[in-house]
Amino acid sequence: APTNRVFSGVQPTGNLHLGNYLGAISRFAGLQDDYECIYCVVDMHAITVWQEPRELERHIREVTAAYLAAGIDPDSHIVFNQSQVAEHAELAWVLNCVARIGWLNRMTQFKEKAGKNRENASVGLYAYPALMAADILVYRATHVPVGEDQKQHLELTRDVATKFNLDFEESIRALGYEEGFFPLPEPLITGTATRVMSLRDGTKKMSKSDPSDLSRINLTDDADAIAKKIRKARTDPDPLPHEVKGLEARPEAANLVGVYAALAGGTSADVLAEHGGAQFADFKQALIEVAVDKLAPVTGEMNRLMADPGHIDRVLAGGADKARAIAAPIYDEVRRIVGF
Ligand code: ADP
Ligand code: NA
Repeated sequence: APTNRVFSGVQPTGNLHLGNYLGAISRFAGLQDDYECIYCVVDMHAITVWQEPRELERHIREVTAAYLAAGIDPDSHIVFNQSQVAEHAELAWVLNCVARIGWLNRMTQFKEKAGKNRENASVGLYAYPALMAADILVYRATHVPVGEDQKQHLELTRDVATKFNLDFEESIRALGYEEGFFPLPEPLITGTATRVMSLRDGTKKMSKSDPSDLSRINLTDDADAIAKKIRKARTDPDPLPHEVKGLEARPEAANLVGVYAALAGGTSADVLAEHGGAQFADFKQALIEVAVDKLAPVTGEMNRLMADPGHIDRVLAGGADKARAIAAPIYDEVRRIVGF
């Protein structure tokens, strides 16, 4: 089994934003030299909440375009769409039968997403973490880059893998595996601005589903839109502090400094060394420049790719073939272990 296989995914739910880019997609690209990377457009996760069928296909291509525009190489690595590789759903069923209801009951994301009307949430939304476990384990992936919001789900993946290895210990040994069948995947925790906050409310994360368009910078925004949103971003009246300590209890200021740091490739301390004492009007102008500088090439490349959907679909089809070639023999062994 490989010792350095990465799996991760992004949902094609539209509105890809700066948080997705800094917290996930650009980091995925950065792992390519050190890991064998499998990056998935997780459309089966997306439909755990309602997705307009006519938009889903475009959103799948949009995430794919973002992966490619960020520099993920689909020839050396794997870029594909979850629903095209049936082994995800097949293993998810087995893992649904390994995971315990009590474990899923503790998942905070389900509680948040289901809201008050929990009785009316889809069964898929509830079982989402078992599908995520299947996504990772069907490749026997060893590492998963995760944002804060997915840590609990990765922990559940490890619990499911552990229980599977124990429940089926005998048949796993009979296949010649001494140390269990599934590796326990490790999180790859990420650095500065792992969590980008809403531009309208520094206590909420920047999110695809925020009804306010001004709350997020979308990857499809042009320079004017980026400038407008940063200018309108909420701040407090004080100038920037000189030390990181001075950002405590100033969530909006901390967020803009963190975003600047992540875009410029430094730390918040570096940013404050340069901009400490500045008024927000001036700091925002500097942030607009660095944001446009970093994002314009990504947006341009995404637009170029989106204009040729046939090419994107061929990339996804090729990626699905490569993904299936790994997943199918692993799932075959799962069947033998389970006794199907
Ligand atoms: P969203 O949470 O916006 O609906 P996804 O659930 O598809 O998007 O998340 C895709 C990836 O982007 C995940 O790895 C997630 O951790 C990351 N991500 C989402 N929102 C943010 C954010 N505000 N800051 C940093 N990373 C984020
Ligand atoms: Na998320």
